[in-house]
Amino acid sequence: MKRNDFLKLSASMAAFFSLPAGATVDNQELLERLVKDEHRAFGKGVGFATAPIQTVRTAIIGMGNRGASLVEMFELMLRDKNAEIVVLCDLKQEKNESGATIMKDWQEKKPDLVADGAEAWKKVMQRDDIDLVIICTPWELHAEMALYAMENGKHVASEVPAAYTLEECWQIIETSERTGRHHIMLENCCYNDEELWLMQMVDEGVFGDLTHAECAYIHDLRMLMMDEKYYENQWRIFHHEHRNGNLYTTHGLGPVSMYFDIGRGDYYSHLVSMSSKESALSKAVVGTNLPQQYACGDMNTTLLKTFGGKTVMLQFDTHTGRPYSRINTLCGTGAVHQGYPSRLYLDHGPTWDWHRWADEQKYNEYQEKYKHTFWKTLGDEARAKSIGHGGMDFIMMWRLIHCLNKGIALDFNVYDGVLWSAITPLSELSVAQDSMRVDIPDFTGNTWKSKRKHEIMR
Ligand SMILES: NC(=O)c1ccc[n+]([C@@H]2O[C@H](COP(=O)([O-])OP(=O)(O)OC[C@H]3O[C@@H](n4cnc5c(N)ncnc54)[C@H](O)[C@@H]3O)[C@@H](O)[C@H]2O)c1
Repeated sequence: MKRNDFLKLSASMAAFFSLPAGATVDNQELLERLVKDEHRAFGKGVGFATAPIQTVRTAIIGMGNRGASLVEMFELMLRDKNAEIVVLCDLKQEKNESGATIMKDWQEKKPDLVADGAEAWKKVMQRDDIDLVIICTPWELHAEMALYAMENGKHVASEVPAAYTLEECWQIIETSERTGRHHIMLENCCYNDEELWLMQMVDEGVFGDLTHAECAYIHDLRMLMMDEKYYENQWRIFHHEHRNGNLYTTHGLGPVSMYFDIGRGDYYSHLVSMSSKESALSKAVVGTNLPQQYACGDMNTTLLKTFGGKTVMLQFDTHTGRPYSRINTLCGTGAVHQGYPSRLYLDHGPTWDWHRWADEQKYNEYQEKYKHTFWKTLGDEARAKSIGHGGMDFIMMWRLIHCLNKGIALDFNVYDGVLWSAITPLSELSVAQDSMRVDIPDFTGNTWKSKRKHEIMR
């Protein structure tokens, strides 16, 4: 980038991200990667639906850990012919073969297995016998693949995150609106039993007026990131080498945004983000051939505020040794929930009888009463899968294919996935600027102001 362009960019960045007058954004490389142009959205994706697709012809790109487990989720849909897996595509043919083996009893025709190099996915997306492309590759490829798929007339279901630069976020919105193709980010945690139970209680007023939520991706990934066989070419650890911020936002922020009606009457206005020093990962890699220094702090805490006055604490820590948690705390005037383990407090006004969570009987009563329809009807089928995060992956994939079969709007639109993903680059900017306030772009073309019921509650 030429110096003049950079100065111009710094000036517009200062305005866009509410940087104080005279603030210098000194991390040129970061800026160059995160933001380039001015963009706008029209909101055409709100309530967007296409004609019903009787059998959703599907290609899966990236047959690593995630691609293989998503193939398993297709059992019911393949048996019922609501979907067909037409292509599996990976750099390695043995990974495609394993995927084909998983589904061999559920679909008569073996899918085409494509492994002709790093660009072979383009040929897959040019085919005219595919309706939906599922993208399960490393983060840096998601947006490029999604854009190409939509340009070639395909609907896209992208693994998380949808994108990792702001430029890519805008390109996804503009391309989805222009081509009239769906882009949904596969945020499976929104379909978990506990999260949908909370959503049902929110919908029926148990939580009263919502004020605050705490959520996270806390997952000790040290062993997996260091393992040569787990992530292909150990792609994930290299993000931690060069980037510092909240690098995996969507498992925490997706469900909270659903509870908060984000994009459906409320929206995030701004954030501040702070990272701790890095220590645990660099300690873990001593004696390996991996880089010995990492930019990403062990713990990132990002605070977000909504226009409606609600606050969110979003944390990210994949370095520290401890049990997994997405926190899943939700506070309202009527109730409070905390996850890991799940507990419910039912407010009974200002009283001396405080400090006690609902007892087991009350908790079970509420769990039964407010169970979400998906779990009432599909829970047994979902839980029967040995993988798939306790059933939420199955419910998510079933629901996506169902909406496409019926020709109804998807539960989450392009603006949802993009917004939750954009928090990563925005947090990186804030961290790089000593936790400065960063405004959150309106990706919805101002449509977030119209209040409407969440599609997942239909
Ligand atoms: N939602 C969830 O719960 C969940 C769980 C795990 C992973 N994920 C996401 O899934 C994605 C993949 O993660 P993973 O754990 O499966 O990683 P992985 O490394 O096991 O799989 C990625 C696969 O993509 C393939 N690939 C790379 N470049 C390619 C190209 N040009 N063309 C075709 N294939 C290519 C690799 O060979 C590899 O098999 C990531 O975005 C991750 O965040 C989501």
